Amino acid sequence: MTRTTSSTSPLLSPLTFRNGRTAANRIWVAPMTNKASHHDGTLSDDEFGFLVARAAGGFGVVETCASHVTKDGQAWTGELAMYDNLHVPGWRRLAEAHRTEGALLIGQAFHGGMRTLRGDGRPTPWSCSPSGDDAPPGEEIREGTQEDIERVIAAFAAGAARLESAGVDGVELHGAHGYLLSQFQSAVLNRRTDEWGGSLECRARLIRSCMQAVRAAVSDEFIIGVRLSPESSPGLPGIDLDETLQIARWMCDDGADFIHISLWNAEKMTTKRPQEHAARLFRDALPREVPLITAGNIWTEEDALAQLDHGADAVALGRAAITTPDWPLRVVEQGGDPKRPPIKGAELSALALGPVFIDYMRRWEGFVAD
Ligand SMILES: Cc1cc2nc3c(=O)[nH]c(=O)nc-3n(C[C@H](O)[C@H](O)[C@H](O)COP(=O)(O)O)c2cc1C
Repeated sequence: MTRTTSSTSPLLSPLTFRNGRTAANRIWVAPMTNKASHHDGTLSDDEFGFLVARAAGGFGVVETCASHVTKDGQAWTGELAMYDNLHVPGWRRLAEAHRTEGALLIGQAFHGGMRTLRGDGRPTPWSCSPSGDDAPPGEEIREGTQEDIERVIAAFAAGAARLESAGVDGVELHGAHGYLLSQFQSAVLNRRTDEWGGSLECRARLIRSCMQAVRAAVSDEFIIGVRLSPESSPGLPGIDLDETLQIARWMCDDGADFIHISLWNAEKMTTKRPQEHAARLFRDALPREVPLITAGNIWTEEDALAQLDHGADAVALGRAAITTPDWPLRVVEQGGDPKRPPIKGAELSALALGPVFIDYMRRWEGFVAD
């Protein structure tokens, strides 16, 4: 595809959500765990600096890392949180800075389920189903009770209300990548036989209940979306494309203002139907007024435009937003190239990554040069 002239790129046109709120353009920073928050889940200066530099770089929407909605839902050290009023000032600081830069701020809300942190006196992680008798000591998973489930639904709602009270523009329920909400969706991980497992209706009940509870807890102006993994991946078995399409439709019935699908490699067609791209399938399945966002290995303007051609309304950039904080300005408006990894630690530091985040990026193969 030939590069469009800077001012006419469809990526730079405003994006309107179902609730009428508008983002300046169709280029998002994808949610990225950076491990740089304080131990109590409050925002650190490093995380603030990283996110606001991307807002200043022209991204229309900036998503935060996955942030836990209950204390026992934390999956990473140094993770942002939204379970207590203690966290509100940090969110308010972020929201005000994003408003100044003209970007919308969306907090990603999640619970780690079976992937929550262990040790240090923390309770045994819970999820849809317990670990088997063969679980190694220290790897046990407890089956969530009705009380656990009701508590987490209420916590998603309370977290979203807290974000709204801080002036954040919206929340994204993290229903992807094998955390609690997608654990319940999985036909392999979820072996329950009560109202929270079994049929698709029952496996989708948790994410639907969270969406409904969040919608009821905030005003119509607050943007609510959901991130879904359309199909199984190594850490997440039992996810069927057609079931995820149905869940996305239900999410819209339940009040979603946008649907975000995480593809890892957005160039690829679906596994279940190799002739078809997920963006086209989801776009055709959803009400027109609900924007569809795709993410996965998008580096160039051509990559992003290909997603719009497939049916996406906006794109979310992960690693390219790290390497090129002004991607919308540099790559789309000015026709420049994104910076590609490997990148030296000192250079990442100049791109507003703190030392903890740089160290974490060493785990992403080929990303950090030294
Ligand atoms: C450092 C890092 C942290 C991530 N953390 C999250 C996260 O907290 N929540 C989430 O939904 N996805 C997370 N992801 C996945 C990204 O949002 C994105 O979907 C993925 O990296 C593919 O996009 P990319 O190829 O543009 O990086 C993370 C990715 C990276 C690189």
